[in-house]
Amino acid sequence: MDGYGRMTIETANAVLDDEYARSHDDVRPGQYVLVAVTDTGSGIAPEVLEHVLEPFFSTKREGKGSGLGLSMVYGFLKQSGGHLKIYSEVGHGTTMKIYMPRTMQVEDSLVDMTIVPTKGGTETVLVVEDDDAVRETSVALLGDLGYRVLKARDAQSAFTIIDSGVHVDLLFTDVVMPGPMRSTELARKAKALFPGMAILFTSGYTENSIVHGGRLDAGVELLSKPYTREALARKVRHVLGNAAQHRIAPA
Ligand SMILES: Nc1ncnc2c1ncn2[C@@H]1O[C@H](COP(=O)(O)OP(=O)(O)O)[C@@H](O)[C@H]1O
Ligand SMILES: [Mg+2]
Repeated sequence: MDGYGRMTIETANAVLDDEYARSHDDVRPGQYVLVAVTDTGSGIAPEVLEHVLEPFFSTKREGKGSGLGLSMVYGFLKQSGGHLKIYSEVGHGTTMKIYMPRTMQVEDSLVDMTIVPTKGGTETVLVVEDDDAVRETSVALLGDLGYRVLKARDAQSAFTIIDSGVHVDLLFTDVVMPGPMRSTELARKAKALFPGMAILFTSGYTENSIVHGGRLDAGVELLSKPYTREALARKVRHVLGNAAQHRIAPA
């Protein structure tokens, strides 16, 4: 606009129909949210318009334009399933219409976790962890939250405890530990004996790497290390709640 003129920014809900989609092959018909930016500038000549979305294309003089503005807008829109339409008249101005797929989902509200009181419980948790410091920390945290806590340093001794018939509501076990029995085997055998027992794995590995690495099956509950007191408290309530639900209505 060369320093003067009027720029108008508008927003609206919009529908791109079948007919429009037929003549624009990147468009899926449906509901969109439209942001339109209109200026009363120089306009874009048709031979320039053909190139404006190309990265580094600029008609501005050396050192002025980067040629990246529109190509980035376009890239972002493509990634998001959106659509860009440019209307321009040389000597009058330009309208850029940015269409983004409309969602009907309710906006996520951010919950301030620090103001939600951390919930504990009185169930019995068996903590299985080979690292002494980590084990003592989780035992202390869980004890502090009100739980009855039992502990073992490997899968084998954990199984001895479970097999002895001591009541355990939650088996909270590290994934990779030394010893002849694997944590997955421990979980399987514990479940076979006590189907109502909740199982929560913990690991320094991320959930994706551990599931994809084949160390755990998809769908198991995993708490990534290091975890906060709040994260531990929340996850423990979550798995205990799920186990209780399954006892009422077995899957
Ligand atoms: N509102 C507009 N009016 C006229 N021409 C435009 C407008 N927006 C973009 N153009 C043309 O498209 C080219 C590329 O735009 P852009 O990717 O933003 O890069 P840059 O502005 O850095 O040159 C510009 O150099 C210009 O020729
Ligand atoms: Mg620009």
